[in-house]
Formats: sequence, structure tokens, C-alpha cells
Amino acid sequence: MLHLATATPPVWLRRALANLDEVLVDHAHCEKKAASTAINLMFRYQDRPQLMAPLSALAREELEHFELVLSLLRARGWAYGSLPPSAYAKTLFKAIRPTEPLRLLDTLLCCSLIEARSCERMKLLAEQLDDAELAAFYRSLLASEARHHSLYVDLALGEGFAKDEVFARLRELAVAEGEALASCPREARVHSNGPAL
Ligand SMILES: [Fe+2]
Ligand SMILES: [Fe+2]
Repeated sequence: MLHLATATPPVWLRRALANLDEVLVDHAHCEKKAASTAINLMFRYQDRPQLMAPLSALAREELEHFELVLSLLRARGWAYGSLPPSAYAKTLFKAIRPTEPLRLLDTLLCCSLIEARSCERMKLLAEQLDDAELAAFYRSLLASEARHHSLYVDLALGEGFAKDEVFARLRELAVAEGEALASCPREARVHSNGPAL
């Protein structure tokens, strides 16, 4: 159960399949960013010790994914390099309320939705890729990313937020996530909005 409010349009998949090198470079950046986000939360919420071990394990796993993507890029002769940051997460994070502890709740739930979107799109790639190695790779990541989605929701529940409040806010932020995605430029990115016209 990924709690997404919108489904990825088929145009995104067509664009991604036609630009696999770009998608894979962007994917590497997404894994690195996911690790960095988890580590940033460890620094911001040092007064919440129960968050430390799960976030540390999550950051480690995302870095392992990053290294796997790097090795796939290397094997194909596709260059890893810098990319302008995607507008997606920045736009979604604007929905985060500024006052604690609501800021913590919203941040965890936004992270959970980003993981959910990655999982949804990796599933599409795993199902549709002709490249057997890449399809198997995306299949292997699906379970992790679905688990990360649930982990962030569980962390919110573990921080004392009521279940009703968590899931009501998750539904609201899922709408914001769909809007953030729809506002992204049309390019071949993991979190973009379909093809360039
Ligand atoms: Fe990952
Ligand atoms: Fe993840």
C-alpha cells in the first residue's frame, strides 16, 4: 500500500525507456539524496534517539543502492555526473508545516511519499524494460523502496503522533505530492512528469 494519490502517466514510462542512460544517472542522484536526507534528519532530531538507528540503517541501504547504480552505469559506459536538482522534492517540501512537532510529522510523511513514488516507478520499469539486467535490478529494489515508504510512516507513529492524524495528513500530503510531480519539467527523470513535448 503506497498511499499515492495519483498514478504515473504512461507517457513517463515511454520517455524513461527511451532515455535509460539519463534515468539511471538521475536514479543514482536519487539514492544519494535519499541517504543524505536520512542523515540530515539524524542531525536535526538528535533529541529523538529512537529515530537514530532506523535512519542510519536507511542511509546505509540507500548508499548501497547508490553504489549498485554506479556499477551499472560503469558497466554500460554511461557517465555519472552532476545534474541540476529536480524541482520535485523542493516543491513537495513546501507543504511541510514550519512548527515542531508538525514539521517532523510532515517531513517523515513527505519522505515516505517520495519513497512510494520511487517504488511505483521502479515497478513500471521492472515490468516494461527489455534489458533483462536492468529489469532484474529494478525488481530487486522494489521491496526495499516499499519498505522505506512504510518505515517513514512507522517512524511517525513511533514518535507519538496519533494513527488517525498520521493517515489523514498522509492523504493530504499525497495530493501535494501529485501536484509537485505535475509541476515538474517534462524530462527523463525518476521524479519528472512525462516526456518533453
Ligand atoms: Fe534506494
Ligand atoms: Fe529508499
